[in-house]
Amino acid sequence: MYYYGTTAVNDKGHLEIGGVDTVELVREYGTPLYVYDVALIRQRARSFKATFEKYGVKAQVSFASKAFSSVAMVQLADEEGLSLDVVSGGELYTAIAAGFPMERVHFHGNNKSREELNMALDHKIGYIVVDNFYELELLEALCAQREQQIDVVLRITPGIEAHTHDYIMTGQADSKFGFDLQNGQAEKALQQAMQSSWLSMSGIHCHIGSQIFETTGFTIAVQKIFEKLYQWKESFSFKASVLNLGGGFGIRYTSEDDPKPASEYVAEIIAEVKKQAAHYDLSIPEIGIEPGRSLVGDAGITLYKIGSSKEVPEVRKYLAIDGGMTDNIRPALYQAKYEAVLANKPLEQTTEVVSIAGKCCESGDMLIWDLPLPEAGDQDILAVFCTGAYGYSMANNYNRIPRPPVVFVENGETRLVIKRETYEDLVRLDFPLRETAEAKHQ
Ligand code: LLP
Repeated sequence: MYYYGTTAVNDKGHLEIGGVDTVELVREYGTPLYVYDVALIRQRARSFKATFEKYGVKAQVSFASKAFSSVAMVQLADEEGLSLDVVSGGELYTAIAAGFPMERVHFHGNNKSREELNMALDHKIGYIVVDNFYELELLEALCAQREQQIDVVLRITPGIEAHTHDYIMTGQADSKFGFDLQNGQAEKALQQAMQSSWLSMSGIHCHIGSQIFETTGFTIAVQKIFEKLYQWKESFSFKASVLNLGGGFGIRYTSEDDPKPASEYVAEIIAEVKKQAAHYDLSIPEIGIEPGRSLVGDAGITLYKIGSSKEVPEVRKYLAIDGGMTDNIRPALYQAKYEAVLANKPLEQTTEVVSIAGKCCESGDMLIWDLPLPEAGDQDILAVFCTGAYGYSMANNYNRIPRPPVVFVENGETRLVIKRETYEDLVRLDFPLRETAEAKHQ
């Protein structure tokens, strides 16, 4: 078993996290249950920030809230002095509800609506990452109407193919995101933004992909961007005050993954920025990064109860858990792999290889293929590691399965931060065609 953060095995032989016994957590909150190791999130945040401080460069480390947007998480990000990346009115609303300082909020997205842009303007957020010409014109018009200025950063696609899963590769030219750096679109957008009396053209953003292990993609992006920044200084006297390099730093889901510590990615990015700035005789902009997964991914575990099993002789044994693609769609969507143990006996010798099935009516709802486990059955608790990023945030109600609750654990204390959805929640937005006895009771 690999020990993430504060995970340990306690004297009862149970898996513990944040000093709390996972078997007790299940007794109190039921299953499925998302559990976050708050100390590990803090440690990850501090390590990103400390590296920038060590090298003495001005920086903003933003939490990409799409990885896990909730009021408590946004408040934790604030406690750690992080900035916040939001990609929708809903994520922005969560930040507002959390009382997050709006000047540290950055708004992304390839199709922000008028309402969303107005909401960002109402709340005077830090900057808007403009993704395309449609948005550039729309934002300019809204600002003019409101007679309000806003800082903007242009999202560019540098034409890099990060080595990762196709669905989450975004830095390449053929992408729905951003202005192409090579074909003149970025330059045109820059001129357009610079001409505006309402938009204050602050800098450049790029995000080359997700779950990236090598630093080369980031350093090449920096080189390509600086080449342009030099040209743009010469041609348009443009000086970038912000260079945001996005997120994407990889984490360890299974023993197949070998990520570098956060500090190494950051150190290499800083070194390259300094090198390029010196080479072109440009000043060093404030560096932005937007980790999502690498801040919260390995701090999360999901606890499930095992229920039914099915043996296909000479093929495999299926063990079914009480969740699946509704609380973790990543295996079905990306063939993502996870490791897991029995939380009530994590150190027991493994004796068989089983496949963990979800409970949805969908053959593809398989959580883990070929997992070595000790003999396991009804009521044993399965702890799946590394589910903190894009687990809750991509959860859904397929088969009308209620979303699980989320607890934070730290120093032996547990805090419920999101309630379990109820069946009543599931029909809350439904209008019946006729009154029923059940409906009347509500
Ligand atoms: N910044 C931008 C502009 C992004 O598009 C993303 C992720 C991030 C930051 C954060 O990336 P991270 O550090 O978390 O890799 N649902 C997929 C991941 C989609 C990522 C989308 N953008 C998954 O479950 O793997």
